[in-house]
Amino acid sequence: MIDRVLMAPSILSADFTCLGESIGLVHDADYIHVDVMDGHFVPNLTIGPPVVKALKRITDIPLDVHLMITNAEDSVDWYLDAGADVVTVHAEACPHLHRVVQTIQAAGAKASVSLNPGTPVSVLRDVLGDLDMVLLMSVNPGFGGQKFIGNTVRKIRELVSLCTDVGAAPLIQIDGGIDEETAPLVVAAGARVLVAGSAVFCKNDPAVAMEAIRNAGMSAIQRLV
Ligand code: DX5
Ligand code: ZN
Repeated sequence: MIDRVLMAPSILSADFTCLGESIGLVHDADYIHVDVMDGHFVPNLTIGPPVVKALKRITDIPLDVHLMITNAEDSVDWYLDAGADVVTVHAEACPHLHRVVQTIQAAGAKASVSLNPGTPVSVLRDVLGDLDMVLLMSVNPGFGGQKFIGNTVRKIRELVSLCTDVGAAPLIQIDGGIDEETAPLVVAAGARVLVAGSAVFCKNDPAVAMEAIRNAGMSAIQRLV
């Protein structure tokens, strides 16, 4: 397990009239988290491949594209072609999960699978060894600014244990309600990539806010050693 906390600010809470400037504010981010919603898998509609393509032109920070869509298997190529560096699909929306993971990796991108709060980590057992990252949702997907679901901490520990069982070591990413209070909880349990939307972009200084969350998470790693 890496001994750093990687930050993935979510542009869902950024100002959509000036996304380029917003990304410029978080230049020390490890990923830019891009939430794609289709109005079917989740009750909200956001952005698609043209925006991913536009972001790719203006930043060198890896684009972490979170697909909250029903037809990921049919449209994953659009996001790969647009320049996604990491593609996350939802297990609940992909009957052919192994195939879509292979498609993502064959295109040279990192493959990640996400689980909703109500989906047990055991569904990942047979693909875990193939994954670069697992994204556990700590809110029900669809909106920024929701309250962190406390059961996620237990779920992260269960995922770490499952990874040990099958000899896999994907990065563990947490998305939803992450701030300075919740970051140490999830990092202590084994998470190393933190998505934060409102706790970064709704603050006066997003760069300072992002580093405060990272430092809060790092303090949990330091307490462990
Ligand atoms: C929610 C999205 C998140 C969202 C998180 O469905 O997947 O990435 O932007 O927002 P916060 O950090 O405000 O909970
Ligand atoms: Zn997300």
